[in-house]
Amino acid sequence: MNAVVVEKHGGPEVLQYKQVPIPKADQKNLVIRNHIIGVNYIDTYHRSGLYPLPTPLVVGKESAGEVVEVGPGVTNFKVGDRVVYLGGDTYAEYSKAEPISVVKLSDNVSYETAAASVLQGLTAWTMVRDGYPVKKGDYILVHAAAGGVGLLLCQMCKHLGAHVIGTVSSNEKAKIALENGAEFVINTNEENTVERVNEITGGLGCHAVLDGVGKATFSDSLEAVRRLGTVISFGNASGTVPPINIAILSKKNVKLMRPALYNYLGSREEVNKWFGELWELLEAGHIKIHIHKIYDLKDAKQAHLDIESRKTTGKLLLKA
Ligand SMILES: NC(=O)c1ccc[n+]([C@@H]2O[C@H](COP(=O)([O-])OP(=O)(O)OC[C@H]3O[C@@H](n4cnc5c(N)ncnc54)[C@H](OP(=O)(O)O)[C@@H]3O)[C@@H](O)[C@H]2O)c1
Repeated sequence: MNAVVVEKHGGPEVLQYKQVPIPKADQKNLVIRNHIIGVNYIDTYHRSGLYPLPTPLVVGKESAGEVVEVGPGVTNFKVGDRVVYLGGDTYAEYSKAEPISVVKLSDNVSYETAAASVLQGLTAWTMVRDGYPVKKGDYILVHAAAGGVGLLLCQMCKHLGAHVIGTVSSNEKAKIALENGAEFVINTNEENTVERVNEITGGLGCHAVLDGVGKATFSDSLEAVRRLGTVISFGNASGTVPPINIAILSKKNVKLMRPALYNYLGSREEVNKWFGELWELLEAGHIKIHIHKIYDLKDAKQAHLDIESRKTTGKLLLKA
């Protein structure tokens, strides 16, 4: 089968499109024929080695497709099921998957919608329901508001009744964030984030700051949060946040969280709960998925160049 393989960590140029054997199901696994594959920022960390995984490795954490083989110990899936998968090795025509990471799709959810919504959508929804339960009237600062997770956070926070302040790096992205739930935008190339947040919130700061940018924004996030507020640092698009002295949190009794989505999906009950809520949001039209571009699997390198260039908005997908 065709797959995108990393043999040595590095920049987008290390992504090799090559032939590898089709995986076989064992006792407790199944094999999925991936049709549409989600591109996520974490794929760049696995490629670069920021999150070290042994090589050679097939990149990718998200796909939608059909079950083509079922191990004898798997009872709840059958060949032909349409599914979405949140696991490893998805930049490939086929992936071997553990059942806990696979969810059946109803007929009205396309492979494109599934692969474009699940990883980023669940990251955003768990953050605003569990990490900081967003309430009506809250001021929420969303960094990278026009990105994949960012656009979903803006829509979800607005749906929950919050005032959303989004940071972006261009006027084009500002327009998209405003169209998707942000009430205020801060163009970080032209304005100072903390000053603008203070203007907007009457000097109080935000109830919560949702920060997937990391190194470049972390100190602004601590400045922009209000007394007793919450900072959720959920990613490293600009680099990892350096170690901190936790005493800095006592200045405003700040709650600091560093979540990873997979910890919300440890049992079938949790998977069903969070996926069920995400499908409801989509079906009710409370969130819309924005697909930036669908690339051929062989063009994964271009997808990585694009997402790291800060020029993309919404979701990037690969077609296998
Ligand atoms: N913890 C979890 O479980 C989890 C799950 C999913 C995603 N994430 C994290 O969420 C974040 C967003 O992921 P995504 O897939 O939706 O990506 P994305 O937001 O579509 O792309 C990253 C964005 O970060 C901003 N950015 C700021 N400084 C940057 C820099 N130096 N280099 C590159 N980008 C920079 C850019 O927006 P501007 O140009 O507008 O600033 C860029 O568009 C990532 O950090 C990712 O790791 C975490």
